[in-house]
Amino acid sequence: MNRSEHQAFLDRYYGASRRIYDLTRKYYLFGRDSALAGLLTERWSRLVEIGPGTGRNLGMLHQGRPSARYGGVDASLAMLEVARVRCPWAAFAHGFAEDADYAALVDGPPDRVLFSYCLSMVQEPGRALAHARSQLSPGGEVVVVDFADLAGLPGPAGGALSAWLTRFHVRPLDERLLRSVGAEIQFGPGRYWLKATIRGE
Ligand SMILES: C[S@@+](CC[C@H](N)C(=O)[O-])C[C@H]1O[C@@H](n2cnc3c(N)ncnc32)[C@H](O)[C@@H]1O
Repeated sequence: MNRSEHQAFLDRYYGASRRIYDLTRKYYLFGRDSALAGLLTERWSRLVEIGPGTGRNLGMLHQGRPSARYGGVDASLAMLEVARVRCPWAAFAHGFAEDADYAALVDGPPDRVLFSYCLSMVQEPGRALAHARSQLSPGGEVVVVDFADLAGLPGPAGGALSAWLTRFHVRPLDERLLRSVGAEIQFGPGRYWLKATIRGE
């Protein structure tokens, strides 16, 4: 699938579901709130979320740290429409994780780049991670929260969930890819989700 097909899929999918997105995702996108709470204990003043969707995470971070600068890059114009209304204090760009200019959004290299349930939808996750690391300020970090390999779920549940996610172009993250860039990883119950922290290059 090329980029314009990926974007067309995202706009169809999220164009139809964006109004109920936040309500429904709280039942299966686990680990987001603890990742946000962890971020709010750290020192940073520029943060860019890749794939911010409706702007839910940026809204929570802004509530906790209103003085910081926030940016978002999303491949879906349908989602960007929602995020722009919800987060008027943030700068947004339509683009792709693999090569967007993150620094331009926050007037300097970001201290944190957040991927929350986005990297599993990105077509070239290795390229996206390398690009994110290259954009960080000195001492900055990439934070990823997303589906893990589901290997600890009981019986056929992991396989069934993985097959269902494929229908929505979601591929649970490969631990080896994250380890290859030096990620520190914490797994949620059943290896359903993971949080990874990755330093710059
Ligand atoms: C499952 S939603 C997650 C939204 C939000 N981060 C959250 O935690 O609720 C995935 C988001 O990533 C965006 N996305 C998918 N592929 C992308 C890519 N290659 N580059 C940037 N954004 C992408 C989608 O349009 C969507 O807004």
